[in-house]
Amino acid sequence: MRVVIKLGGDIVKGVFPPNLLSDMKELGATNQLILVHGGGDVVTEIATKLGKEQKFVVSPDGIRSRYTDRETMDIFMMVMCGLIAKKLVEVLRRNGIPAVSLSGLDGGVLKASRKKKLLTVDERGRKVMIDGGYTGKMVSGGGAVVDALLEEGVIPVISPVAVGEDSEPLNVDSDRAAAYMAMGSHADAVLFLTDVNGLKLDGRVVERLSVEEAKKALPEIGFGMQKKILAGIESIEGGVREVIVASGFGERPLGRAMAHEGCTVISS
Ligand SMILES: Nc1ncnc2c1ncn2[C@@H]1O[C@H](COP(=O)(O)OP(=O)(O)OP(=O)(O)O)[C@@H](O)[C@H]1O
Ligand SMILES: [Mg+2]
Repeated sequence: MRVVIKLGGDIVKGVFPPNLLSDMKELGATNQLILVHGGGDVVTEIATKLGKEQKFVVSPDGIRSRYTDRETMDIFMMVMCGLIAKKLVEVLRRNGIPAVSLSGLDGGVLKASRKKKLLTVDERGRKVMIDGGYTGKMVSGGGAVVDALLEEGVIPVISPVAVGEDSEPLNVDSDRAAAYMAMGSHADAVLFLTDVNGLKLDGRVVERLSVEEAKKALPEIGFGMQKKILAGIESIEGGVREVIVASGFGERPLGRAMAHEGCTVISS
């Protein structure tokens, strides 16, 4: 099996969960794994330390996103493709798991189209059109470089920086990047590992959902999880058989998620 695993911000920011590491070694022994990571909070933290206060804008549907001017894009790359990705490779390597980190710029493994304008809502609730900066909408993922690494038994570690039509780096949503990586590399499953056990509705984790049920539930879901469910729906519609949302913490996080225990599964 080929499985794309999206590692959420809480998993990549502190001590890498040791249980997840041993699980990854086991799963990776018989399957091809592709990792995609998040970590927006770390970008904000480092940018603030560098004296570059991060600005966030809100769309008319209430979606909050980082305003990425070129300086912010450079810091985003430093943190995502440098600090976070290399620490992941370090920890994997130390545990005998060969890995290579890539951004979308490297081999064009994530391609996006640059958002020319962004429709935002200001503090007074007025709609304002602003320059899109260095943010992108995912177009494609995967390709020869990813396939070659997998053939060699190496885990590709992908940062959420895509390449635009003018070869510029673009900040893309990491859940979406994972979805496009899964679709483009014909993965059997995409697994979103985060800090909660799955999608909760009415206070309980939903074990199974069809695409139709997932679409219907969207308005009731809070921001971080809504992005995963949206990316999950997109993955299934793009040919991925199974989407799992699970916690990256606790005992045997990967083994349990792959066995559909204590998590949310969306299937075609
Ligand atoms: N209905 C819901 N069920 C489960 N979690 C929800 C729900 N609504 C909102 N959430 C929130 O979504 C969060 C997970 O998304 P979040 O974006 O914070 O993490 P991540 O995607 O793993 O990290 P990153 O965005 O840095 O990659 C949970 O911690 C939870 O607070
Ligand atoms: Mg998120």
